[in-house]
Amino acid sequence: MPSTAFYNEYNQLIAQINQWDHAYYVLDNPSVADAEYDLAFRQLLEIEAEHPDWVTAASPSQRVGAKASNKLPKIEHAVKMLSLANAFSLEETYSFFEKAAKDLDIAPEALVLFSEPKLDGLAISLHYDHGLLSYAATRGDGLVGEDVTHTIKTIKTIPLKLHSPPPPAQLEVRGEVFMPKAAFAKLNQLAVQNASKVFVNPRNAAAGTIKQMNPKLAATRGLQFIPYGLGAYQGAHEFSKHSEILAYLHQLGFRKNPHCYTFAGSFAEFSHNYQVMAEARDSLPMQIDGIVYKIDSLAQQNALGFIARSPKWAVARKFPAQNDTTQLLAVDFQVGRTGVLTPVARLEPIFVGGVTVSNATLHNMDEIERLGLCIGDSVEIQRAGDVIPKVVKVVSQGTLRTPIIMPDSCPVCAAPVERNDGQAAFRCTGGLTCAAQGAERIRHYAGRKFMNITNLGTKLIEVLYSKGSLHTIADIYTLKAEDIANLEGQGEKSAQNVLDSIAASKATKLGTFLGALGIHEVGEEGAKTIANYFKNLDAIKSASFDELMQVPDIGPVTATNVVNFFNDNKNVAIVDSILAAGVHWPHEEAKPPGQQPFAGQTWVLTGTLSTMPREQAKALLESLGAKVAGSVSKKTTCVVAGLEAGSKLAKAESLGVKVLDEEGFLAVVGQEVQ
Ligand code: IVH
Repeated sequence: MPSTAFYNEYNQLIAQINQWDHAYYVLDNPSVADAEYDLAFRQLLEIEAEHPDWVTAASPSQRVGAKASNKLPKIEHAVKMLSLANAFSLEETYSFFEKAAKDLDIAPEALVLFSEPKLDGLAISLHYDHGLLSYAATRGDGLVGEDVTHTIKTIKTIPLKLHSPPPPAQLEVRGEVFMPKAAFAKLNQLAVQNASKVFVNPRNAAAGTIKQMNPKLAATRGLQFIPYGLGAYQGAHEFSKHSEILAYLHQLGFRKNPHCYTFAGSFAEFSHNYQVMAEARDSLPMQIDGIVYKIDSLAQQNALGFIARSPKWAVARKFPAQNDTTQLLAVDFQVGRTGVLTPVARLEPIFVGGVTVSNATLHNMDEIERLGLCIGDSVEIQRAGDVIPKVVKVVSQGTLRTPIIMPDSCPVCAAPVERNDGQAAFRCTGGLTCAAQGAERIRHYAGRKFMNITNLGTKLIEVLYSKGSLHTIADIYTLKAEDIANLEGQGEKSAQNVLDSIAASKATKLGTFLGALGIHEVGEEGAKTIANYFKNLDAIKSASFDELMQVPDIGPVTATNVVNFFNDNKNVAIVDSILAAGVHWPHEEAKPPGQQPFAGQTWVLTGTLSTMPREQAKALLESLGAKVAGSVSKKTTCVVAGLEAGSKLAKAESLGVKVLDEEGFLAVVGQEVQ
């Protein structure tokens, strides 16, 4: 094993990243800024590129490992993986445990029960060999499963190395892999945009992700794992209760199932627990399809054993089904906060899964086409992980069928509706003046990345917007103290703080202001690039499509959106009134592209510079047309290495990329800025 200080540093980096991952994914308590995490991860990858022989299976980089072959190998389970008996009513649940108590020859009240949400994913068995994850398998038929180690390793809530030393010689953790509702919604949104396969529910999405071949794809899907028990175990711990096993697994680095409870001597309590969970279900971040009740004592579990495929000591009380059929009465188009028009199904009201449903999302026009849907049809609706139910299929066509047509003008502001080439979404072109987009536009404008109006937060914007004090971003500058002071929870002092932060934000940069306008597809970086290129707002306002296409990294969609934005007089009037209110930035003369000596070049800064902060050096390089990147590759033009430059310098040297020290850097840029 290498014993250099660099190798120690590498291991410390691994320990640090593992600790951050655990705090973030398992404890839900992030302990580091994203940027710092990204930097550390990049350093890790850089070191590993230089020392491939140091990399072990426990490095966080190995979460996305080699591709598996296209047929998953079979794995035999040492201990059979059981399923659960279901109960569909309180009575069935009672009688399940009354029978268990009878078999144990004790009074039912003497049982101590433990309840866990039944996570709606797929069962997975994880094998740890002396603390290191060695392989993972699906349940399969309970006796033989499939080897899914390649995708399982990408799940950040699964430790690659167990936390608490000394590790048990052998440990098999069993639990559920699932896709949180938010990740599922995002996945399907993307699928609809790309016209690819839409998953029916989070469980299918999780199973599909785990069983496919590409770990890189799996890593992007936000899967999670929560354990619910042990399989094979060889270690020093003696457990007497199921709840102790779960506590031990949490110590080893696994996530806890939220909302677990112990019920001693009272059946009535778990009836109440079921009602509470059925109501809380929609607000949980993951889909659950019932509650599992288990006898906590392991001695009692062993005494009871199992029948066929399920234990006699645990039962799943399932929530009622969540699919049903109703009629599509009409389709309305809702304008979202970013201008996207979403078709919404208006349904004949129906009671599904405990609530009355009268609306369902249809995602977009491609989805309507895929479903072959018309107004008047009978449709199957589903309450999946999402709180908003959706239409899954046409059950039978209506006798009177009306086609669903996207309106050509915005239902809120009447501006034309357009669709960019290749995109699924239709958007309102009302820009800064569409009321549906107003509050979001203002939030974007005032946000930390842009105008950074610190005391004008999302809540306050929404209240001011709903009261009519804010319509567009220009209204920020006409706000009066009394508009704010009279609101609930606000006073004169907080009103003054808001006005002060508005005043302080007026000194800005051109790129920041341009990004703040929220032109579609013009993000923080894009806005900076455009600003650096044109140097003043008038030049940007009057830039043609062809001129914008000359800007490095700016494509046709962005160029079109910028031209359209400034062609709209209403937008120009808003921008002009903001400038009249005193928003300003340092004036710079436009530098034609020929005078951007570093245009097309990529520079990397590493280590500490003694004459200026790194941000300043970055701004200087950008003003000369260079792009400043965070990592070194063959395409890097030059690396500036300050004091204590580390792995990036080493990488530049190994790739033969040009390196300048601080003096050399100052000499080169000095010539250009004079
Ligand atoms: S205990 C021997 N606990 O439900 C008992 N299962 O329908 C093993 N499931 O195959 C299961 N959440 O995949 C248990 N908190 C939980 C669960 C849970 C989800 C799944 C598991 C099992 C299936 C049975």
